[in-house]
Amino acid sequence: MNQQNIESGYECCWLGYEYIDNGHLRESYKKHCSRLDITGKSTLLESARRELKLALAALLGQPPLEREILDIGPTIVVGTFGSSRVFDSLAKESDIAELGVEGYVIHTSDEGNIFIAAATDKGVLYAVFHFIRLLQTGESIEGLRIREIPKNSLRMINHWDNMDGSIERGYAGNSIFFSENRFVDDLSRIESYARLLASGGINAVAINNVNVHREESKLITTLFLSEVAKVASIFRAYGIRLYLSVNFASPIEIGGMGTADPLEPSVSRWWEAIVNEIYRFIPDFGGFLVKADSEFRPGPFTYGRNHAEGANMLADALEPYGGEVIWRCFVYNCLQDWRDRSTDRARAAYDHFMPLDGMFRDNVLLQIKNGPMDFQVREPVSPLLGGMARTNQLLELQITQEYTGQQRHLCYLVPQWKEVLDFDTYAQGEHSTVAEVASGRLCGRKRGGLAAVINVGDHANWTGHVLAQANWYGYARLAWNPRLSSEQIAREWVLMTFRHDMELERVILKMLLSSYPIYEEYTAPLGVGWMVNPDHHYGPNIDGYEYSKWGTYHYADCHGIGVDRTVGTGTGYTGQYHSPQSELYESLELCPDELLLFFHHVPYSHVLKSGKTVIQHIYDSHFRGVERAESLVQLWDSIEDKIDSKRFVQVKERLIHQVEHAGEWRDNVNTYFYRKSGIADDHGRLIY
Ligand code: GCU
Repeated sequence: MNQQNIESGYECCWLGYEYIDNGHLRESYKKHCSRLDITGKSTLLESARRELKLALAALLGQPPLEREILDIGPTIVVGTFGSSRVFDSLAKESDIAELGVEGYVIHTSDEGNIFIAAATDKGVLYAVFHFIRLLQTGESIEGLRIREIPKNSLRMINHWDNMDGSIERGYAGNSIFFSENRFVDDLSRIESYARLLASGGINAVAINNVNVHREESKLITTLFLSEVAKVASIFRAYGIRLYLSVNFASPIEIGGMGTADPLEPSVSRWWEAIVNEIYRFIPDFGGFLVKADSEFRPGPFTYGRNHAEGANMLADALEPYGGEVIWRCFVYNCLQDWRDRSTDRARAAYDHFMPLDGMFRDNVLLQIKNGPMDFQVREPVSPLLGGMARTNQLLELQITQEYTGQQRHLCYLVPQWKEVLDFDTYAQGEHSTVAEVASGRLCGRKRGGLAAVINVGDHANWTGHVLAQANWYGYARLAWNPRLSSEQIAREWVLMTFRHDMELERVILKMLLSSYPIYEEYTAPLGVGWMVNPDHHYGPNIDGYEYSKWGTYHYADCHGIGVDRTVGTGTGYTGQYHSPQSELYESLELCPDELLLFFHHVPYSHVLKSGKTVIQHIYDSHFRGVERAESLVQLWDSIEDKIDSKRFVQVKERLIHQVEHAGEWRDNVNTYFYRKSGIADDHGRLIY
């Protein structure tokens, strides 16, 4: 690891800027990069300048000379169109209006100058990070003709950080923002964090948990606002707006009022006063993220009001300042009785929100989890995405690996997210993908994008498992451009994070790209989900949630397994999809194998499209998953001499744990189903 990585006490992840030891490549870059001319002054441009100088000095071994005019040789010229005459012809050929506030261009001129330009300082910052990425990944910078516009206007990170320093579903230490019910004293790590986020194009961050407890409720008051403002200004320097999660019952809990009824004028006035105060401290405050009427959090239902009435009241208070309300759709009955087969948690978001389509203010976005349940390793796409046509939508993903190995198992999630983004909702005929829906483009809406629950903490490597950084990086890149492939993103991350070596690149790519299917193989089968220990959600427990109130059942008995969600004989959930997806899921013959048990209850002898019975599939995939997990250790071992020992050992320890734990999954699942079904493994392998 380079100097920067060691000195800071924590790793710089993909911004570690290793010296390029390929002399030929380095010299080819130096030809263009020894002089730098940044026109204009602003905090954002200052961040761009600092980053470029830092990167060039480290990557090329010499800082660039700062020149005002390019008269003595190739120069990197950076700025907004109009700030310098040299951008004039570039401005003419780049449709500036289309580039918008975040797009940019990077061109290499015939004389070898590199022009990095945008309509705004923010666009310039993104362009600079793009240019640095080219150098880090060994791309040629001859003849560049790059034009980039983000596909989503909102690219957001959600923190589930609590003010006591703990992180709900955090697996990499404590919060980087909070400790002992106050903000941390040393904010420098937050700045490093902002750099990392901006390098991937993230432009919004909600810093506190959606479950807003007593202390966090006060973040919107003068008790904490000056501290919040300090953090907001760190993010602002990197083009990121700060949001806060709020408690819907704040008027009662911190305002001393008797009600939080959204239609009560005194309640609206209370929120207006709060919002006025917030914007006095933070003029570009992003807005509120709200979890209401969900898992015991307060909400408008208490007052017989609906979610549009709740969200709109807050939206009206924020609107004059350009703020927005991000309202979560994770609303369901969490007090179910397992005997009640008519209530279906999967239906809940759609049932609650579809009737409200078109009733939300323009500055409200509904944040919808990728699946109808809760970030399982395999779920269908939520039918609410693409259901609503007149409401801003935001796709919610989970980077933190709550149900996918808690950063002790390797699970590169970008392939899962790609499947979600590429899913065709058929909302407006073919090609109505989730990516199109979420961006707002499908229905001509101005707001939209992606939000995700982050996986970082104060661990020296940020994510606990070094390779889990790829999920954080990958999310940011996908939010910018959902069309990037899983492989391209993984490759960029490997090249930016480790030293350049073809074998190392091949091996880590192979590990990353196989990890999600491997994890799926040894955990809950065929889309049925859960089978984890209650509360902390780690480790196998087949009946862990089977008789509880959370509505997450697999219904396995001695005859069969799975949840009948068909219109014909089940809960009717398949009817929430547009045709032809609804027919596909409804039909036992057409339903894809990997989701079979999510949609259908079948006997163990049911034959899958793969030609195997359900029970044999369970046995085979669990034996195979563990074998493939073992192969991850061998792959990692094969590149030991190419990786610093610290990162090597850290990952190795986790991979070994993963193999042991995968074995535990295999044995628990296989034994359970052997006993339930009484059907032996065709291959006579050891099942306890
Ligand atoms: C899951 C998770 C909770 C979280 C919730 C949410 O249920 O286990 O910790 O609060 O999702 O998304 O709000």
